[in-house]
Amino acid sequence: MNYIKNLSFIGICMAFVVIALGAWTRLVDAGLGCPDWPGCYGFIVFPTNEAEIAIAESRYPMFPYDINKAIPEVVHRYFAAALGLIAIFLVCLSFEKTDDKSIRGWSIFLLIFICCQGVFGYLTVSLKLLPIIVTTHLFGGFTTLTLFYFIYLKSRNFQIFNLINISHLKTIAAIAFVVLIFQIFLGVWTSTNYASLACADFPTCQGSYLPEMDFRNGFNLNQEVGPNYLYGLLDNPARVAIHYTHRISAILVTLIFLILMSRLWFSDAAPLASTVGILLLTQITLGIINVVYVLPLYVAIAHNLVAACLLLAIFTINYLTWKR
Ligand code: HEM
Repeated sequence: MNYIKNLSFIGICMAFVVIALGAWTRLVDAGLGCPDWPGCYGFIVFPTNEAEIAIAESRYPMFPYDINKAIPEVVHRYFAAALGLIAIFLVCLSFEKTDDKSIRGWSIFLLIFICCQGVFGYLTVSLKLLPIIVTTHLFGGFTTLTLFYFIYLKSRNFQIFNLINISHLKTIAAIAFVVLIFQIFLGVWTSTNYASLACADFPTCQGSYLPEMDFRNGFNLNQEVGPNYLYGLLDNPARVAIHYTHRISAILVTLIFLILMSRLWFSDAAPLASTVGILLLTQITLGIINVVYVLPLYVAIAHNLVAACLLLAIFTINYLTWKR
């Protein structure tokens, strides 16, 4: 079982790295840094010298080559492939090192899921950053992380978890999980629709608490992408609707989390309550910095990673409510 513990832990760390690299790729607008998949302009890594660049540009005349965009895209792909290899090893180990059928089943599911993620990575490029595809791909990244974490929890069987009894918090924990998923969807939708800078002021948006918003177009999941979706195609009111909904929904998340935290606190699970509180506060602060300081790269990546930590924290609480 030790091997499975260690490998799933490496999988968790690697999934965090892949999520961060995916955010980096998106934030430097390098989603189409390589217009093909799995190669980059037909090369295994990416074109580096003048002759290769000339070949690359003759292959894809519509996509002028920019090495600064090819690098993030290729690095993200290689790390994602490494994650796939980890999942393959995990499946092999689950057959060799344990009789636990549940770990075996979840490892196989994880491997299939990562293969689907690869397909969505391909679709992201071939469908030219279609928002619903990019959003599904990003969600897949968070799900992959959670699956590695779930296998890790199952293989570790932490003794300390046996001392925490929060089985009476099933409902509120489940609600917190659902609203967090919804909030992550809204954040990812903000990012994939290039709506991050639609409101440059805080707490108001465009100088108003009720700015002009177009929800119909903002949340139309079947948008047309035109030649490609780089930098987005939505009008400003549609982008404002997406951005502002993400902000308002953060208030709902905060309220639900406060209820969950107080219930945890009075159930002798204060460390869990504090963890959620600290992560939530950090996440909101990073979100505000994103707005006020015009999306600094590292802050935007951190906003992604803390969302992932919040997801794992709320997942742990749900796991504990069902464990007994
Ligand atoms: C519980 C609270 C929150 C969660 C879980 C959350 C989660 C997320 C996630 C997952 C993204 C996607 C990032 C990406 O794909 O790159 C995102 C984007 C964003 N969030 Fe939040 N968020 C929260 C609160 C806030 C708040 C309070 C603000 C601002 C006041 C904010 C502002 C933004 C902005 C501007 C983006 C777009 C950044 C980008 O383009 O990468 N968020 N959020």
